[in-house]
Amino acid sequence: MKTVKLLFLADVCGEAALSALCRALPDLRRETKANLVIVNAENCADDNGAHPALCEALFDAGADVLTGGNHTLKKPEMRDWLDDHPRALRPINLTHPTGGEGSVIVESGGLRVLVANFLGQAFLSGTDNPFEAADRLLEKACGDYDVAVCDFHAEASAEKGAFARDFDGRFSVVVGTHTHVPTADLQILPHSTGFVTDLGMCGARESVLGVRIEESIRRFRTGEPLRYRPAAGEVVLMGALFDVAEDGRCLSAERIETVC
Ligand SMILES: [Fe+2]
Repeated sequence: MKTVKLLFLADVCGEAALSALCRALPDLRRETKANLVIVNAENCADDNGAHPALCEALFDAGADVLTGGNHTLKKPEMRDWLDDHPRALRPINLTHPTGGEGSVIVESGGLRVLVANFLGQAFLSGTDNPFEAADRLLEKACGDYDVAVCDFHAEASAEKGAFARDFDGRFSVVVGTHTHVPTADLQILPHSTGFVTDLGMCGARESVLGVRIEESIRRFRTGEPLRYRPAAGEVVLMGALFDVAEDGRCLSAERIETVC
């Protein structure tokens, strides 16, 4: 039976973290024997959002697919760039998307892998119902893929958990992103979907969710509308590795965390 090893890496928080990830990715890829590397790149620019040159650096370092979130289309230059780079995704269920696609099918390990990106509705705006969007996608792509996986970018743990349970057995892997805090619930659900509520982040270890500690404290203490900036220092790379069989069952799930 064919299997594919998928390495998901969590939200990249700023350009120093992106550089650290790019340096580490070739070794990480070799050590994990990953066939397919999927990175959430929505926060990889220092000034919030993503930038084409930074996303290209991730592809050059060995990422196969980039996923996004609520910040992906913040910079206007991302719009045309996403249209030209189908392996870089933005959430499929944006109410008013201004560029790009929310899913792609890639060949990996001899299998056709559908990678999709959704955005939660709880505490976030500008999204249509992700459950219905996923129903439509899987119906439309039926027969075109062997394995389907997704990044569910969302604030609320309950929404991520409900989505994973609803799609248990239909997606082989559901990973949550966005909160930058890794959850301890990596598991294989009853109908063989690999799931974790949140992967965590690729960002500065000494930080609050990847941003400068003192600025985060000041914002919460004073209510000043400060713009968050990425913290400096040692970078921790967080993610998860999944083995998926050609029949769609997730066979194993392993947490990845490395400091660089
Ligand atoms: Fe986000």
